[in-house]
Amino acid sequence: MKKLKVKLKDNSYNIIIDPNEKDFLLSFRQYVKSKSVFIVTDTNVAKLYLKNLEKILNEAGYDCKSAVIKAGETGKNLKSLSFLYDKALACGIDRKSCAIALGGGVVGDVAGFFAATYMRGIGLVQVPTTLLAMTDSSVGGKTAVNTAGGKNIAGVFYQPKLVWINASYLSTLPARHIRNGMAEIIKYALTFDENFYAYLLDLISKGFISLKDFDHMIYKSCAFKAAVVEKDEKETKGLREILNFGHTLAHALETYTEYKKFLHGEAVAAGMLFASFLSYKLNLCKKETFLKTETILKEAGFDFSLSAMNAEKLAALMTRDKKAVGGKIRFVLLKDMGKALNGIVVDNKKAVKFLGDFIRENK
Ligand SMILES: NC(=O)c1ccc[n+]([C@@H]2O[C@H](COP(=O)([O-])OP(=O)(O)OC[C@H]3O[C@@H](n4cnc5c(N)ncnc54)[C@H](O)[C@@H]3O)[C@@H](O)[C@H]2O)c1
Repeated sequence: MKKLKVKLKDNSYNIIIDPNEKDFLLSFRQYVKSKSVFIVTDTNVAKLYLKNLEKILNEAGYDCKSAVIKAGETGKNLKSLSFLYDKALACGIDRKSCAIALGGGVVGDVAGFFAATYMRGIGLVQVPTTLLAMTDSSVGGKTAVNTAGGKNIAGVFYQPKLVWINASYLSTLPARHIRNGMAEIIKYALTFDENFYAYLLDLISKGFISLKDFDHMIYKSCAFKAAVVEKDEKETKGLREILNFGHTLAHALETYTEYKKFLHGEAVAAGMLFASFLSYKLNLCKKETFLKTETILKEAGFDFSLSAMNAEKLAALMTRDKKAVGGKIRFVLLKDMGKALNGIVVDNKKAVKFLGDFIRENK
């Protein structure tokens, strides 16, 4: 079993990476004192893993109730949240009960927001089932739902009591979603750790990832994320910004294509390649660093063809990014492999020019 502690004073919690259900129950008992649990999952994950989780919790003496929301981004809305409040109330879920988020980032974000607000807050345990959720969204306490106005418009920081990562859930995850999660793992290597880059490149080149390797990658990713979150829990000190490497262009790509073309990790992969290209063009890093970024992302199977995109329109969208200041675009860039620089402000004209070059070079 691999175990990590996210140290946040009263909000500290453990992440356990272990397929063993008995070990999970031991930790669960330690952090969840109530016998009443409310499992939130989605229509896909419910068919695969809900019964088994209910079974192990029921056998351990818990009283399990569950609610199933629509799978995918379209289920991450106020309607799902409202459904959860009503269902929980009808099931007798009270202030001492604990919610379990069993699913990907969508379930984690919706169930997290639900747990933070139901009866002014009940306990929350994250049981992520996608690679993205195991390496990113289940850790750090960000919860949200989308509104008609945009993505993650309503949300709150709310830390879980426990995160249980069972990588064997990945056996049913479609390949495109595995690659989606790999983007965030590669992000940690590019921004934090050159040795992790070498390990990942070797692994990806082999074309097969064992359960043990998944455990290792997940452990490393959670450790990087936890270290940043510990220093800047609510994103007030600018330190969490480093986790947004590749996200400036990624968010613009997602908005440009109305969230229909790219999965988040795919957009982040393109954004990371552009951020490395920009770092090289602005003389912040060597060409070799950019080439190394390109090698690992191509090896992982990402496609960077952005030829249908207009650089000026994308740059305009980037100026609307949360990190932009006074209409100027802010990027997280690379100094070297495994070393990031945050808060780099780039003039709009330069950004358009380099984006145009980048799009042409990646036709
Ligand atoms: N809170 C955060 O810090 C944070 C960070 C990154 C992303 N997010 C959010 O996460 C969401 C994306 O998460 P995601 O990529 O996990 O998407 P997702 O939750 O939509 O899951 C992707 C698909 O895989 C299915 N699925 C889940 N687990 C499965 C399994 N083991 N086997 C087979 N199918 C499975 C789901 O039903 C869904 O259809 C976005 O809404 C994003 O905003 C949040």
